[in-house]
Amino acid sequence: MIKPIIIGNWKLNGNKVFIRKFFEPLNRFLSKYHKKCTVIITPPVLYIYLIQKIFSSNNKKFFLGSQNVDNHILGPFTGEISSCMLKDIGVKYVIIGHSERRFNHKESNTIIAKKFHILKEKKLIPILCIGETQEEKINKKTKEICMEQIDVIFNICGSYAFDNSIIAYEPIWAIGSKNSAKAKEVQYISHFIRNYIKSKINHKIKNFFIQYGGSVTRKNAKKLITQKDVDGFLIGGSSLKLKEFTKIIEITNI
Ligand code: PGA
Repeated sequence: MIKPIIIGNWKLNGNKVFIRKFFEPLNRFLSKYHKKCTVIITPPVLYIYLIQKIFSSNNKKFFLGSQNVDNHILGPFTGEISSCMLKDIGVKYVIIGHSERRFNHKESNTIIAKKFHILKEKKLIPILCIGETQEEKINKKTKEICMEQIDVIFNICGSYAFDNSIIAYEPIWAIGSKNSAKAKEVQYISHFIRNYIKSKINHKIKNFFIQYGGSVTRKNAKKLITQKDVDGFLIGGSSLKLKEFTKIIEITNI
């Protein structure tokens, strides 16, 4: 069994008070779990430095990640954050291609592939979100959509793109819906993604993980994590509730 990876995506939530109340007990809780399970929290990026200051580097039992990165390194790009800056403050994991960015910020597959490339160049670990809309699911296009989203990464980043990386399969209709995909469906698509990537390369892939995301709770975590091709979760809403989040970590490690 591989070491599961649990990622908490805070999106546009949190403040200084919340951070103190959340991270101190989380860090204590993780004393028991951090060797068995990798926990990554992606708060709004401006709080990363504050969280790092609260915990000296050797007692932190979790990793911090970013919810986004720009596809440029520096220059006239108001409001953006670069891979160099993230690396500079010690961030290792970066979410890209989240459906909220694809839709709200009109990020195309090509822009996302450029971000992926820039992260790999800096040796940061991309957490690439892929998945279908409700309509695409109804039209049985899930595999096609996943293939398209993967192909563009191979085209821009080459055949080693997915070594040292994470794919989060997130059916868009399941995100924030209280309606997670069924465990069997998640296994079917995760298996497909793994095999599809294997079929495109001539080497043994290293450090590649598949997460599931979309309304993960303590109620569905066990069924989902016991699927063979599910290596962990990308969690939105439940990652903001300390009790729920720690319960999911506990369940993942039974
Ligand atoms: P959710 O969000 O867990 O609230 O459904 C998941 C995500 O957006 O990554």
